[in-house]
Amino acid sequence: MIKCIRQPTLETLGLGSVTEIFRNGRLPADAGELVDRVFGAAAERGSLVISGAHGIVGAGKMMQLTSRLEPFGVRSISLSRPRTADGIGPQYPGLVQAVGKERADRVMGNIIRMTYDGTSLPADLKHWRPRFLLEAIPEILDIKRAHYKIFRDAFPGIEIRSVTSGFPSSELGVGVAHPSFPHEINKVWEIIEEETSSITQLLWALGLVPVPVSDDWSFVLDVLFCGATLAGLRYHRANNMPFWKIDKFVRKHVGPNPFRAHDVIGAGGANFLTWSCLHHLSEKYGALFRPTPELDERQETGQDWYPLNHFRPLVNWSMDDEAEEEFIAWIQGALFQMASLLLHERRGHLSHVNAIGELCAQFRRGILAMIRSVGAEEAIKCVEAYHRLHPEAAGNCWYPDVFGQLDSPEWQQLYVNAEHDGGVGVITISRETYNQDVDAELNRAIDWLRTEGIAHVIVTGDFHLATQMVGADTSEFYPALSDVEAGRRVAGNWSATARRLHDDFQVSVGFVGGKRCLGGFLELLMHCHYLVAVEDAALGMPEVTLPVVPGMEGCHWPFRKATRGEWPKLVRMLLTGAPVKAKDAVGWLIDYAGPLAQSLAMAWNLASGKEGGLSARKLDEGRLEGILADVGVSASDNLATEAARAAIMETIRDSCGAALSEALEIQARHSADFFGTSFCREGGIGAEYQRTMMV
Ligand SMILES: NC(=O)c1ccc[n+]([C@@H]2O[C@H](COP(=O)([O-])OP(=O)(O)OC[C@H]3O[C@@H](n4cnc5c(N)ncnc54)[C@H](O)[C@@H]3O)[C@@H](O)[C@H]2O)c1
Repeated sequence: MIKCIRQPTLETLGLGSVTEIFRNGRLPADAGELVDRVFGAAAERGSLVISGAHGIVGAGKMMQLTSRLEPFGVRSISLSRPRTADGIGPQYPGLVQAVGKERADRVMGNIIRMTYDGTSLPADLKHWRPRFLLEAIPEILDIKRAHYKIFRDAFPGIEIRSVTSGFPSSELGVGVAHPSFPHEINKVWEIIEEETSSITQLLWALGLVPVPVSDDWSFVLDVLFCGATLAGLRYHRANNMPFWKIDKFVRKHVGPNPFRAHDVIGAGGANFLTWSCLHHLSEKYGALFRPTPELDERQETGQDWYPLNHFRPLVNWSMDDEAEEEFIAWIQGALFQMASLLLHERRGHLSHVNAIGELCAQFRRGILAMIRSVGAEEAIKCVEAYHRLHPEAAGNCWYPDVFGQLDSPEWQQLYVNAEHDGGVGVITISRETYNQDVDAELNRAIDWLRTEGIAHVIVTGDFHLATQMVGADTSEFYPALSDVEAGRRVAGNWSATARRLHDDFQVSVGFVGGKRCLGGFLELLMHCHYLVAVEDAALGMPEVTLPVVPGMEGCHWPFRKATRGEWPKLVRMLLTGAPVKAKDAVGWLIDYAGPLAQSLAMAWNLASGKEGGLSARKLDEGRLEGILADVGVSASDNLATEAARAAIMETIRDSCGAALSEALEIQARHSADFFGTSFCREGGIGAEYQRTMMV
C-alpha cells in the first residue's frame, strides 16, 4: 500500500502514484498503445481533425498535436470555412526554430487542408477515417452544437472535444479540452469528461499537461484570468487610471498584465471571449462577475487596451502607500473571493487550481499560495475591504469558510508531495522553479517521511505539472538586491534544506526525468547520495549568465564528490553556464545516465537497496586545495560576466578551502555579496526587478 501526504495529481488522470512509476520501471501510460486506442491500429490508423484550424487556437494546437502525432502515422486534417485567412502557414517559422527545417517540413506535410461550407462535411473526409475531432470554432453555443451534429451524423463513433473558453460540457454535449495561450507552446489543457479518457491519457503520454477540472462555467483558468481583467476594469472605473498603468500594478502584486495580454492575443477575439466568460459567470453567480461597460463596448469594437506607446510617459504618476493598499483590495480582494468560489465548488485538485494561475495566467505565485502566505484572516479582511469599495460583490459568491482549511495537507503541499510504500519514500516537486513555497513544502515533506520512519528516498519531478527543473525563481532574489542579509538568508536557508537530503536519510536519490535540471534545482539534487538522470537531460549552472553567484552550494558540493582530475569540468560548467548532457556528466556530476526505463530502475534499485546499484561517490568533508581557474575559457567582453566569473571563482576557492561544516555559510555570504554589486543590480534580475516592482 502506498501512503501519501495528499493525493498525487497523477492519480486524477487515472495514472496511479509516482512510487509505482519507479517500482515498475516504466511510465503508467504508453503513447503508442494510446494512439492505437484513440486512432485505431497502424493498419487502419484514423486521423485527427481540427475544425477552425486557421484560428488562434486551432492553428497553435495543430502544430502542437501534429508534431507529436505525425511520428505515429496519424494524419491531421484542418477543416475550415472558405475565405479564411491562412493561420497555419504563419506557424512555420516558429516550428522551424523549435524542431528544425527537416522536421518542420514533415510536420507541415502531414496536414491535409480541407474547406467546407459549414453545413455539410467534405465527401472525401471519410477516406481519412476521422477518429478524434478537436473543435476550435467560435465561442457561440448554437454553432458549436450544430457542428457536433454534422460530425456525429457522418461519423457516429467519433470522439469530440471542444476547446471552448467557458461553456460547460453539460451545455455543449461533448467533453472539453480547454487549452491556454500561447497555444503552440503552452502544454496545459483543462479537461472535463465524465471519466478519464484515453485521449486525456494520450495528451499526458505525449508530454502535455492535462488537468481535470469540474464541469462549471469558465473552468479555473478563465475565472482567474478574466477575473483579474475584471478587477482591473473595476479599479479603472473607480479611479480612472489608464489600463496600461493598472497592468503595471497588477503585475507587481499578482504577476499578469491582463490588458496587455488581450492585445497580444488579439483584442478583437480576446475581448469577446473575456466578455463571454464574465457574462455567463455573472448570469450564474451574480454581480461579482458582471462585465463593466468598458468591456461591453470593447467586445463589440475589438479595440486594443493600450494606446500608442508615446502617450504613456506623459500621463505617468505614482501611488502613495494608502492608494496602493486600496489597489490591492480591489484586485486581490476580487481574486480571493473568486478563489473561494473555486474551492467551494471543488473545481479541482488544489495543486491544479494553484498551478493553473502560474502556468497559464502569469501569476507569480498561484492563487492558493498567495492566500496561504497572507493567512486566512488577512485574506478574509482583504475581501471585506473589497466589499467596502464595491458593495455589489458582497451579496453572494463569498465562501470565507473554505479558508478555514489552510492547515490541511492539500493546502500545505501545493507544490511538493511525498509518498512511501513502507520502505522507500518518494518526494515529488511540481514547480519548475524553486521558491520559498517549494522550500517550505520540501521541508514539511522531509519531516513527514521521517515521522513515518522512512530512511530511503527518491527526490524527483512529479511526472505531471513540472516537465523540467529550471532553477531558482529569480523573483525571490528581489529583496537581496538591496539587502545583503536577505540574500544571505535565502542562500543559507535553501542550502540548509538541500543538506537535509544528504543528512536526514540513509539513502537519497535525486532523479532527473525531464528535459533539463539547472541552477538551484541541480544544486538541490546534487545533495542526494546519488544523482540519476535520463541520458538526454541537460544539466547546468547558468547563474553566471544572469549574473548571480550560485548560493545552494554549487560552488563546493560537487567538487567534494569529484576527483581532482574532474575539477576542471566543474569549473568550466560554472564559469561558462553552458549545460552538459547527462550522459557526459556521469562520474563527475552525476552517478548514472540511461534511457528512461533503465534510469527509473536504477533509481529504484539504489533507493531500495536492491542488486544492481552503484557505489556512492564519497563526499570529501575536508579542505580542498588547488582548484585552478585556468580551464580554457576565453575571456568575455561582457564586464558583468567577467565580474561574475571572478566572484564565482572566489566562492569556489573559499568554500572548497574550508571544511564542509563552514562552507555553507561562506558560499551563502559570497552569493549575497554579489547581489549587492552593480553587475547584478543592473543585470537581468535587476532589470526585471525595476520593471516589475518599481512602478
Ligand atoms: N483565443 C484564445 O486564446 C482561446 C483560448 C482558449 C479557448 N479558446 C476558444 O477557442 C475557440 C476558437 O477561438 P479562437 O480564439 O481560436 O477564434 P478564431 O476566430 O481565431 O478562430 C475560429 C476559426 O473558426 C473558423 N470557423 C468558424 N465557423 C466554422 C465552422 N463552422 N467550421 C470550421 N471553422 C469555422 C473561423 O473562420 C476561424 O478561423 C473558441 O471556442 C474560444 O472560446 C480561445
